[in-house]
Amino acid sequence: MTRTIDLDQQARNILEMNDRGGYTIPTKGLYPYQWNWDSAFAALGFAQFDCARAWAELETLFSAQWPDGMVPHIVFHKADPGYYPGPDVWGGIGPIPSSGITQPPIAASMARLIYEKDRELGAARIRALFPKMRRWHSWFMRWRLDQGAVCVTHPWEAGRDNTPEWDGPMARIDPVDVGEYVRRDTQHVDGSMRPTKYDYDRYIWLVQMGRRLDWDQEKLLTENPFRVADPTMTFTLLRAQRDLLALGQMLDLDVTDLADEIEILEQGARTLWNPVLESFDARDVRNGDWANCVSNASFLCWYAGISSEGQTRQLQRVLDKVQFGVPSHDPESDKFDGRRYWRGPTWAVMNLLIGLGLEDMNHPLAGQVRNATKTLIEENGFSEYFDPMDGSAAGGQGFTWTAAVWLSWAGRS
Ligand code: DGY
Repeated sequence: MTRTIDLDQQARNILEMNDRGGYTIPTKGLYPYQWNWDSAFAALGFAQFDCARAWAELETLFSAQWPDGMVPHIVFHKADPGYYPGPDVWGGIGPIPSSGITQPPIAASMARLIYEKDRELGAARIRALFPKMRRWHSWFMRWRLDQGAVCVTHPWEAGRDNTPEWDGPMARIDPVDVGEYVRRDTQHVDGSMRPTKYDYDRYIWLVQMGRRLDWDQEKLLTENPFRVADPTMTFTLLRAQRDLLALGQMLDLDVTDLADEIEILEQGARTLWNPVLESFDARDVRNGDWANCVSNASFLCWYAGISSEGQTRQLQRVLDKVQFGVPSHDPESDKFDGRRYWRGPTWAVMNLLIGLGLEDMNHPLAGQVRNATKTLIEENGFSEYFDPMDGSAAGGQGFTWTAAVWLSWAGRS
């Protein structure tokens, strides 16, 4: 008990330490700006003790919304030379310097959870945010659908930078003309826990291409060699649209077309079922190839309101192969690497989303996912991610989203 209280306090301290006034950085050094989905998780963390601060987090994020509706993945409120690629490399065209890509749309789903903590305050704050969230979601519907599934146009967009799901499409990119640049991430954490140079060259090449095309979605649609229908984006947008519909109906806001959009996304989600792999999977839009990967994003189906016996069998299998699930990549795959970012490690935030979905559906594995997350944090602290084999901490430390997961879910008795 004492230990839990202590951890609650530590988690609050992390949120407060990473608070830059209206927005929260993921961790000092490695990620010194406002990241889109990190921020939405931070808001959920703040809501456990300060709902007004939670709403401010989301409001600051949406103040960076682009004229076309996109909400960028990084907002560069204040220059920090410790991060690369910074605002001048991206050349974002929004009202605040930003990157040119987006991230998984979880803000509306977090907003619904925050609203439930204090309905009176929530009703007042959500009114201004609601149309902005709808515009962001409409931007996905307009520019990012493939057979109703939602695509990513850069590995960073899914938030799962170096997952083996991108290995096929990344191999198509020849980054010969990327030029010289200095990586900053490996100055903050050990290179063995980060993407390789092979990957990084291609990340930067894609940024340079987007900038050259002025982040024009019409042009990117035809020119970008990287376009992958992705379970993270598809399942999170489907859930976010359902949450907006629920909020809109409760508060009597404009929900025109939302039910139809949900139906399109439900059908799109079904197209991500790989019948040979017997799992939800990423699909390379440029050549139709499956990634053939069981990743932690495959297990977001329940979060999106889709039950699947086949996916349950996969979840049981991968949980049986590790000590601390849910691993970001299949532990039986030869590409599994337990400490390298999204190629194996367990991420508390993904566990939160997976766990919320399982709990909503009264799934028998819900308790196991939550307990594994609780033990991981109790024994190894608030790190960015964890080795699923021995639970050891990896990546950045004092991490905002892990603290938020503790306060809002894993550490709750
Ligand atoms: C990074 O810099 O590694 C981030 O994941 C990009 O968003």
